[in-house]
Amino acid sequence: METKIVFLDEKNLDKEIIKEAAESIKDGGLVAFPTETVYGLGADALNSEAVNKIFLAKGRPQDNPLILHVADFNIEPYVKEIPKKARILMEKYWPGPLTLILNKSNVVPENTSAKLSTVGIRMPNNPIALELIRSAGTPIAAPSANISGRPSPTTVQHCIEDLDGKVEYIIGGKGCKVGVESTIVDCTCDKLCVLRPGGITIDMLREVDPEVYIDPVILKKPEGDFKPKAPGMKYRHYAPKAPVKIIKGDLKKTIAKINELVQNYIDDNKSVGIIATEETKNFYKHGKVLSVGSRGNEEEVAKNLFKVLREFDDLKVDYILSESFEEVGIGIAIMNRLKKSAGFNIIEV
Ligand code: TXA
Ligand code: MG
Repeated sequence: METKIVFLDEKNLDKEIIKEAAESIKDGGLVAFPTETVYGLGADALNSEAVNKIFLAKGRPQDNPLILHVADFNIEPYVKEIPKKARILMEKYWPGPLTLILNKSNVVPENTSAKLSTVGIRMPNNPIALELIRSAGTPIAAPSANISGRPSPTTVQHCIEDLDGKVEYIIGGKGCKVGVESTIVDCTCDKLCVLRPGGITIDMLREVDPEVYIDPVILKKPEGDFKPKAPGMKYRHYAPKAPVKIIKGDLKKTIAKINELVQNYIDDNKSVGIIATEETKNFYKHGKVLSVGSRGNEEEVAKNLFKVLREFDDLKVDYILSESFEEVGIGIAIMNRLKKSAGFNIIEV
């Protein structure tokens, strides 16, 4: 298939182009588009054949449900009920990086929600995404627009790498402001439960429910009985081609340990990439050093993380060593993605 690749100015939308892409969605086609978190691979969420194409294009396991993307608050047709806390979250944080898990109605096809009785819904905060959904006149099911297992795409180039020739349209925008996927919150129980940390932080959720908690299984290494409520969290994910090791602890000791490991790899004739920060990058004399931004600005680190993981693929390194980040605010999401990309391979110093 020939993929149409178009670039749009988010401040001055070419609605005609969006309309063409929306026609493609209505006809059961696939369109990759930008959101504020990562790029999504969209299809008509209510058309099970179209949804099936998403699973095929990504090589995604069938038991991993998709998120419905909407452009207004009228989500009643897709759910059984909207609990009070969910309503408050929508009003407070939509459009934004927040997916709500609600009990689904029969309108949502089985494959969209992977046969679960619930469905994830979010309103993205990106003018291209919102116009595309409005123009298609249907909720758009959209996982991240990467081949399953790879780091999520945060630039149009990443989408082209993974999906050129497999989808009808790839729409490029300015880039993703948040850089990690939405926070997923289960709203089907009394207490809100975070199934995936993201741009809407625990502190922000606590304003709505002081008892909100993080699904404990996603914080630990996946083992035998690992069954997170968000099925996608059980898969190896966000993984560049080279194995990743995280060095965790005091920053000075981290730098010393990374330098020691780099030397070992070089002695073995292996090439090694280092995920560093503005504050630390000059302390590494060997290896390929990429900075994810300043430690003082974790939003910037989140925004750059997937891009840096993909850059190490282009640099063809044999191993990747990463510094770690404080697990507060969006740092929880950063470390969640980093730990998963490393398969929970962590060296404490
Ligand atoms: O920011 C985002 O959410 C991006 C952009 C494109 O909107 N989308 C995204 O979709 O990250 P995806 O498919 O890559 O990740 C969706 C996650 C998976 O871990 C999936 O298991 C979980 O959401 N999920 C979807 N529906 C669910 C449900 N009903 N119950 C529990 N988890 C669900
Ligand atoms: Mg994904």
